[in-house]
Amino acid sequence: MRNILITGGAGFIGSHVVRQFLNDFPEDRIVNLDALTYAGNLENLKDIEHNPQYTFEHADIQDLDTLRTIFSRYQISHVVHLAAESHVDRSITDPLAFVKTNVLGTTNLLQAAKEYWSADFKDKLFYHVSTDEVYGSLGDTGYFYEDTAYDPRSPYSASKASSDHFVRAYYHTYGLPIVISNCSNNYGPNHFPEKLIPLMINNIIHKKPLPVYGEGLNVRDWLYVIDHARAISTIFAKGQTGETYNIGGHNEWTNIDLVHVLCDTMDEKLGRQKGESRSLITYVKDRAGHDLRYAIDATKLQNELGWVPSLQFEEGLRQTIDWFLANSNWLENVTSGAYKDYYKQAYEG
Ligand code: NAD
Ligand code: TYD
Repeated sequence: MRNILITGGAGFIGSHVVRQFLNDFPEDRIVNLDALTYAGNLENLKDIEHNPQYTFEHADIQDLDTLRTIFSRYQISHVVHLAAESHVDRSITDPLAFVKTNVLGTTNLLQAAKEYWSADFKDKLFYHVSTDEVYGSLGDTGYFYEDTAYDPRSPYSASKASSDHFVRAYYHTYGLPIVISNCSNNYGPNHFPEKLIPLMINNIIHKKPLPVYGEGLNVRDWLYVIDHARAISTIFAKGQTGETYNIGGHNEWTNIDLVHVLCDTMDEKLGRQKGESRSLITYVKDRAGHDLRYAIDATKLQNELGWVPSLQFEEGLRQTIDWFLANSNWLENVTSGAYKDYYKQAYEG
């Protein structure tokens, strides 16, 4: 039995990764470590919280002593590290929070792993989950490859780039067995409604203005979150130590085209007049330093490990919209802040 520490498992992607791992590795124990910041929501894991294979630890990766205790308490052999501050707009307002969690927190985790495993790195793995945003901003053509030079331009991407560098430094300097993946923008169930797609879905439901930054011509490469979780599981099982894998679905959209599809699909589902939701679109001041375009080349992952995305974008978007419409309580709890009480109710009685 392996003891796998997943950090940030109460967040958007982490909760899908926890579920994917429980399913794919039924012989292993999963410890979910999460500080439950505004983005952490244990309601995301309600369906598996009593699974005997699963344990939750409320802890902050900024606290090295606590990490040391957790490594030895659970005899951690593998780490899948997702805990992070993840929203670019928040990083512009409060960059230091991103340095503390993404840079210092990641280095604390590396240090705890190195200390605990120092005698023997055999059958150990530190898997760091990162973003394509570390590569910077593309022009109209070209792709991000695994060897594209880092060129981060927001405090968020700079903090993730820095964390990637520390992970590689622990590999080269101490021989810590690591693997890194850099993924494009995710979407899907449980997405916190501060990011583009869930924010638009929430605002369309409530007939609120749809804020499109600048001219809406920035391009993002969207991947369904469960396909990201499948990719992480594949890399965890079959990836080569020391390697980096890019994850993406070859699925580029300008923001405005994407918002149009969301508006039209939701008008249909909500029985509204065609064009009703598009009339809510409001162009607002552009994000500072707004990266123009991200696009991932995931050929290495496909050729070497056999992963391909399972869902077409139109189908993924429909499933996502259906999930948000069917889970209005989840959305209500998140937007009202009531989700913060869930930990107390579920874990403190
Ligand atoms: P999220 O913001 O939804 O969740 C982050 C989780 O980390 C939350 O549960 C939060 O409580 C926890 N956390 C934050 N600070 C912590 C700390 N100091 N100690 C312990 N836990 C802490 O983020 P997400 O969108 O699920 O992203 C997860 C990871 O995937 C991040 O590392 C992010 O950089 C990366 N990533 C995200 C995307 C995307 O499109 N969302 C794409 C590629 C990579
Ligand atoms: P976001 O979901 O924040 O992801 P990221 O910035 O990490 O790619 O934003 C996706 C794109 O949508 C990005 O180009 C900024 C834009 N955007 C808007 O136009 N309006 C919004 O309200 C938000 C949150 C984002």
